Amino acid sequence: MEDGEEGRPMQRRPKMRTPPPGPNSKVLVDRDAAILATSTKTSPIVAKRGSGVYVEDLDGNLLLDFTSGIGVLNTGHCHPKVVNAIRKQVGDLMHFAGTDFYYEAQVQLAEELVKLTPGEFKKRVFFTNSGAESIEAALKCIHWSTRRIKSLAFIGAFHGRTLGALGLTGSKPVHRGRFYYHMAGVEHVPYANCYRCAYKMTYPDCDVWCMRIIEEVYFNTYIPPDDVGAVFMEPVQGEGGYIVPPKKAITHLRKICDKFGILMVDDEVQAGFGRTGKWFAIEHFGVVPEIVVMAKGMGSGMPIGAVVFDAKYDWGVQGAHSNTYGGNPVACVSSMATIEVIKEENLLENATKVGDHLGRRLKELQESYPGLDNARGLGLMRAIEFVRDKESKVPDPKTRDKVIERSYKNGLILLPCGSSSIRFIPPLIITKDQLEAGMDVFAETLAEVMSNKEPSKVARPKEEKETRIVLPPFKSSTELVEGKDTPRGEGLKAGRPPTEGGKKAKKHKDKKAGKKKR
Ligand SMILES: Cc1ncc(COP(=O)(O)O)c(C=O)c1O
Repeated sequence: MEDGEEGRPMQRRPKMRTPPPGPNSKVLVDRDAAILATSTKTSPIVAKRGSGVYVEDLDGNLLLDFTSGIGVLNTGHCHPKVVNAIRKQVGDLMHFAGTDFYYEAQVQLAEELVKLTPGEFKKRVFFTNSGAESIEAALKCIHWSTRRIKSLAFIGAFHGRTLGALGLTGSKPVHRGRFYYHMAGVEHVPYANCYRCAYKMTYPDCDVWCMRIIEEVYFNTYIPPDDVGAVFMEPVQGEGGYIVPPKKAITHLRKICDKFGILMVDDEVQAGFGRTGKWFAIEHFGVVPEIVVMAKGMGSGMPIGAVVFDAKYDWGVQGAHSNTYGGNPVACVSSMATIEVIKEENLLENATKVGDHLGRRLKELQESYPGLDNARGLGLMRAIEFVRDKESKVPDPKTRDKVIERSYKNGLILLPCGSSSIRFIPPLIITKDQLEAGMDVFAETLAEVMSNKEPSKVARPKEEKETRIVLPPFKSSTELVEGKDTPRGEGLKAGRPPTEGGKKAKKHKDKKAGKKKR
């Protein structure tokens, strides 16, 4: 073990050989730029492999991943249990079209999701391949069963980019521009964003006016409530800026829904599957939605999504909705394994405990810099805002972008959210030590950017001959002993299930060791 500052093992920190994109990565970045359609790529990281909270890039850099593949890898990169489940299923049955035929993995997962989601009523499950597709399915379920033509959504919301889902999305003009024509029937109202209240009011004096106004003004003037089938909401707004509303706002929204027979659609695509310290973020607010939409963290990287809804709103007619890949067997077993890992390794508790610590570190930084404000979040879904100053709260996306860019050089993978925030969403298996390592890098990066210093010198590996960096072995949070976690050079192999050859070799080694002892 190499000791770093204050006796901290170096390997927990990122290990950078060259600023990304290094020469090998650059080749791929250029090939990508020449052929792939424009999407949202901004980061220079080219992944070769991942293990737990670490990613190794094509140039042998070892980086800490505080993005989890945009909130997908809640069990970390390549969790051995998930990998094993996928490997086994791939050999047994890879696909069969679960909308037309039968296999157990789909029913098993649906039964589990019905238990995990809030509400004691009879539910049904429809499987999809992504968040946006889950939102589309929810929309169709509502329009089909209620025959109401309108939906209500919130400014700042992100529900996906397919045309139905895009109609509900309202976080950036670039998402919607030139596509308006296709998006009928959605009315947007401001969300309970108390840091930047659209009505310039202050909570609690406002008595959640942002929700009361829905009935008192909008429903009384231009939105006929009887035409509204559902209100779509993210309990913690994600792409829009990790906005955590006051509990009262959500309970009031529930009352409005009950009064006018409007369904509540809880979009848990980003906040669900343990991210906030509960299975679903809505549980923090003590209300029960009729429809829960999920994806991302559900499959630990396999593309899978689902809509779990009150059985009353089922289509009930064959052909009204279906798909080909939804609830594919490999994706289903990956999701089952994900659920088991979250339970067995107490990841909800870990997200709460380590998340609280992350919150404290962000608050400390906020107090140290006039340009940092509004540290916020739940569990391991947190963010901090870059502003010109705390009084004006004018967003400062330029500094935010510089910090993210510099953090890549220093080995920490981060993503923005909202107009000027950085989000922190490491895998839920992260230990306090690993979190500390990442936050130390973030604090150093902030210091560099805020003082306009040159980036810290990139540490060269001691042995120039070494061509491949060694990823710390995968350890689940329950295996890690705080302060004693000292990953050794066992490589990524340590995180992989043993092969038959490997098992034999180990047996042989153990036998030899036993003989020696005797
Ligand atoms: C809350 C929420 N809903 C829906 C989506 C769309 O999911 P996908 O990108 O899988 O289509 C996202 C994606 O970020 C999201 O955060």
